[in-house]
Amino acid sequence: MHNPQLNKHGELQHLLSLDGLNASIVRHILDTAQRFVGVSDRDVKKVPLLRGKSVFNLFFENSTRTRTTFEIAATRLSADVINLNIGVSSTSKGESLLDTIDNLAAMHADMFVVRHAQSGAPYLIAKHVDRLHGPEVHVINAGDGRHAHPTQGLLDAYTIRHYKRDFTNLTVAIVGDILHSRVARSDIHALQILGVPEIRVIGPRTLLPGGIEQMGVRVFHEMSAGLKGVDVIMMLRLQNERMKGALLPSAQEFFRSYGLTPEKLALAKPDAIVMHPGPMNRGIEIDSAVADGQQSVILPQVTFGIAIRMAVMSILAGN
Ligand code: CP
Repeated sequence: MHNPQLNKHGELQHLLSLDGLNASIVRHILDTAQRFVGVSDRDVKKVPLLRGKSVFNLFFENSTRTRTTFEIAATRLSADVINLNIGVSSTSKGESLLDTIDNLAAMHADMFVVRHAQSGAPYLIAKHVDRLHGPEVHVINAGDGRHAHPTQGLLDAYTIRHYKRDFTNLTVAIVGDILHSRVARSDIHALQILGVPEIRVIGPRTLLPGGIEQMGVRVFHEMSAGLKGVDVIMMLRLQNERMKGALLPSAQEFFRSYGLTPEKLALAKPDAIVMHPGPMNRGIEIDSAVADGQQSVILPQVTFGIAIRMAVMSILAGN
């Protein structure tokens, strides 16, 4: 089946999801990011790979990490970066999403970085720009609804490779609100593409999608069993903004059962790493002693996000 994010040569035209990408594309992004990690240091000069290009950040949903690291990444690639302030843009006067895109394309946008609460919005935009504006315009999904967050999946894979080197002997646990998590879906795709043999998801029945086993993961409802012997723990935020109805007795009860404390972390391998995509709710999904502890790689994840986003944008631009 045709993958809408690939051009006729099988190269990335847009980055919409990790689902359906092959291992060589994903490894190429990680390897390219590795070359940019040094450039991400404050004292290293910019690289000119996106000189003369305009990158439009369109965030229809809140963001701290993704929006800012895309802006830093584009700036370090020498692009012109335009952060559209959605709240005061004409979308608040009823202009349609695609009319907004056409107007920005008329300002010679080369790349749209899109976050949207509706799953599929970046696909809609990509299809539209392919038809109306041609192959020189690229769309990057910066998180759509509960569907996908591909650059988060890539930066998480990069972080795991940095600390563990080899994917093919790892057990990875993803913990918490899997049901509403685009990060969990993109992480599962990334880890499978890269050959992780055992991916576990741990959470209450109300926060696990029905049939998740069909994604090739092992399901656990107890931290005591699910965390045993794992190499990597990926914690997730409770996404209250996407919850409909009462899926949990209380945040305190969730923390008691699924919050990562030093005692629960001790069930994993002694050299296990702890990850969290942010924003992090201390005392709800993670104890501060773990979030700030020796095994936490939560802040390095954010830093690697700059290099990953530089890699994605430079590959899309044909460099
Ligand atoms: N991980 C992540 O997407 O964080 P932001 O919502 O701050 O971008």
